[in-house]
Amino acid sequence: MIAADGSGAVAGAGGVLAGTDAAVAGGEPMIKSYQFSAKASATTVPGAYQSAVQFGPLIVQSTATTAAPLSALMLGRPDDFHVHLRDGAGLASVVPFTARQFGRALVMPNLKPPVTSVAMAAGYRDRILQALPAGSTFEPLMTLYLTDRTAVDEVARVAESGFVKAFKYYPAGATTNSDSGVTALKNVYPVLDAMQRHGVVLCIHGEVTDPATDVFDREAIFVEHSLAQVVRDFPALKVVVEHITTREAADFVSAAPPNVGATITPQHLLYNRTSIFTGGIRPHFYCLPILKRETHRQALLAAATSGSPKFFLGTDSAPHSRNNKETCCGAAGCFTSHAAIELYAEAFDAAGALDRLDAFASRFGAEFYGLPRNAGTVTLQRDTWTPPEEFAFGDETIVPLTQGRTLAWKLQ
Ligand code: DOR
Ligand code: ZN
Repeated sequence: MIAADGSGAVAGAGGVLAGTDAAVAGGEPMIKSYQFSAKASATTVPGAYQSAVQFGPLIVQSTATTAAPLSALMLGRPDDFHVHLRDGAGLASVVPFTARQFGRALVMPNLKPPVTSVAMAAGYRDRILQALPAGSTFEPLMTLYLTDRTAVDEVARVAESGFVKAFKYYPAGATTNSDSGVTALKNVYPVLDAMQRHGVVLCIHGEVTDPATDVFDREAIFVEHSLAQVVRDFPALKVVVEHITTREAADFVSAAPPNVGATITPQHLLYNRTSIFTGGIRPHFYCLPILKRETHRQALLAAATSGSPKFFLGTDSAPHSRNNKETCCGAAGCFTSHAAIELYAEAFDAAGALDRLDAFASRFGAEFYGLPRNAGTVTLQRDTWTPPEEFAFGDETIVPLTQGRTLAWKLQ
């Protein structure tokens, strides 16, 4: 049995279990003062997964799960609040994957040249709409790339546009196509001030770029210095810390006021940094911010499954051709759009928190952005399947994060 209203009910051998609302009664985050809920009871067996499933995620079934395993899960149609769709031939290859499962997605602007104006975003949005399968109702939500030269006037145009929902802050040099990014926070203070006044969201890639800083420390240092500074200096600015990867970032966001949220990717919920180096170097696990230690993965899983409305779904699915990944200087990015909601289901299932997936995937992001929930539902079936090891990507191919491994959940 599956509940008809799509409110996140889960169905199993024993019937329908309660939806998510009770878990977040009053919208009160369940993680406070850095006290993470013990609800996420997934346990880790370092190394053990390697022999069982070569590319398997670092989780084993929750010991708290005593009822018969759930066989199906109905969610409100989810949104992806962080995706890279690229442009040109690659765009048409990847858009259908996102449109198949998500009602909306927030599309990142790190193209060449970067999407820096509402006019450019309108053109990019049209090309995305052209690439949609016939009959799709998917709605792309656009972002603008914040640069040292962004005009304060552009903020009002964003606020009026209706389809541009945020500015994306890339520290210059932090990641793929970030050369045009911001070189010093103070350079964009007038623009941040205008965003705060107009209620425009700031999406932040939270890493320092000093080459002397260890790549595994870049997020935590950014959080302590730059993020804390932005939140202090613009207390009413809506800020999304994108693709958080550390306990420090999760703790900061939990403790911050309600106008500060975060997206979490499937790879950061399922894998840790050892996955990049298991039996050799595995470029398809390489993204930025880079996967961190197991303690951080556990903190992220606790945050995602906590029921706090501050944490919501953003895949950061970032396609790069196989040739650009499997080379002596491989590009950063994990492609997950082909199985995104299934990967999140796997993570939440292992944490014994499938009842929290609906709010994380389909509600909290929309609420943060002031959008209505999508109409319609999607249904996940507990059913094994193996996504292809490779997909077409324009004239080239992409290797997805799943790399030929079998998944436990399948979107109907
Ligand atoms: O791994 C990543 N890939 N991180 C980013 O921040 C950018 C993205 C991309 O565009 O390839
Ligand atoms: Zn990204």
